[in-house]
Amino acid sequence: MHILLTGGSGFIGSNFVRYVLRDRPGYSVTNLDCLTYSGNPENLSDVEGGPRYTFVHGNILDIELVTELMQKVDCVVHMAAESHVDRSIIDARPFVESNVLGTQTLLDALRRVDPDNTKKFVHVSTDEVFGDLPLDKPDELFSETTPYAPSSPYSSSKAGSDMIARAYHHTFGMQVMITNCSNNHGPYQFPEKVIPLFVTNLIEGKKVPLYGDGQNVRDWLHVEDHNEAVLAVLEKGTAGEQYCIGGNNERSNLELTHSILELMGKGEDMIERVTDRLGHDRRYAIDATKLKTELGWAPSRSAWPQALEATVKWYVDNEAWWKNVKSGAYRKYYETQYGSR
Ligand code: TYD
Repeated sequence: MHILLTGGSGFIGSNFVRYVLRDRPGYSVTNLDCLTYSGNPENLSDVEGGPRYTFVHGNILDIELVTELMQKVDCVVHMAAESHVDRSIIDARPFVESNVLGTQTLLDALRRVDPDNTKKFVHVSTDEVFGDLPLDKPDELFSETTPYAPSSPYSSSKAGSDMIARAYHHTFGMQVMITNCSNNHGPYQFPEKVIPLFVTNLIEGKKVPLYGDGQNVRDWLHVEDHNEAVLAVLEKGTAGEQYCIGGNNERSNLELTHSILELMGKGEDMIERVTDRLGHDRRYAIDATKLKTELGWAPSRSAWPQALEATVKWYVDNEAWWKNVKSGAYRKYYETQYGSR
């Protein structure tokens, strides 16, 4: 099985590459990534040059390039996306371009090379497309039947991409499957997201900026659990279906922050209360029953506090990686490899 993975140099994508090469000896991966700020070749330096891994530097909006790549593969796992809510509040345009137009471009390219719809396309998305849940109704959860109600420019662009993906299944009979995951954590996450930002700030002696009242809740999923679920959908999922992936592990930001502080041996004084994010979603939480009953998947690596401990330890042990990322040093590396953009 030869997978075309988009966005494989990012956080979830690079973990996916490593997972597939380790766990699926018969599989190979071609990673198409345009290496914007968060895509980082260093995330995959350990697998580069291996016989089952190929890197292609390019953009999912380049229809000629993606058409050529799709001819050579058996299936597509689409992870490339702009994903940071705060950036989408500052400038939504790259989100619409990469997430909506990028997905449409990939699907059009697949139609060109695969008119008989033999190749599967897994569209990796987010639970944020469902909007948010109230804090005072803990029994309410997102599932595959929850209506779409995105609230940030980011989640709206992902919702748009999900709709395009659904439409291409409905209209053309393409073998499209959609996954909607909760908040991921683990190694190689860009330190703009809350866990790596807070851990690396503390190592640098800086405070951690907690938005608003800190009561917002996220359902934390270990990236390896997420990628295991994506593979289950690729291998056993039904075309046209949607699958929610969650860690079954809800934590408020305040609780998360306290756990990180404790693990790092730091006190409450390191919390800096800052102005809330505009339109900040209150709570995300997933009911992943469908994945369990239909595909036999359940999270096994997301249990707290062990999962958080492992992630925190990775950033403590891999200071060189995140220092390069925070200083932008890796950009210089890939500019010498691939030219500046
Ligand atoms: P984030 O990692 O940006 O993921 P998402 O917005 O997709 O859930 O943020 C996770 C939570 O942490 C979210 O409720 C916002 C909060 N947060 C802070 O309190 N401070 C920060 O500096 C960041 C980046 C996030």
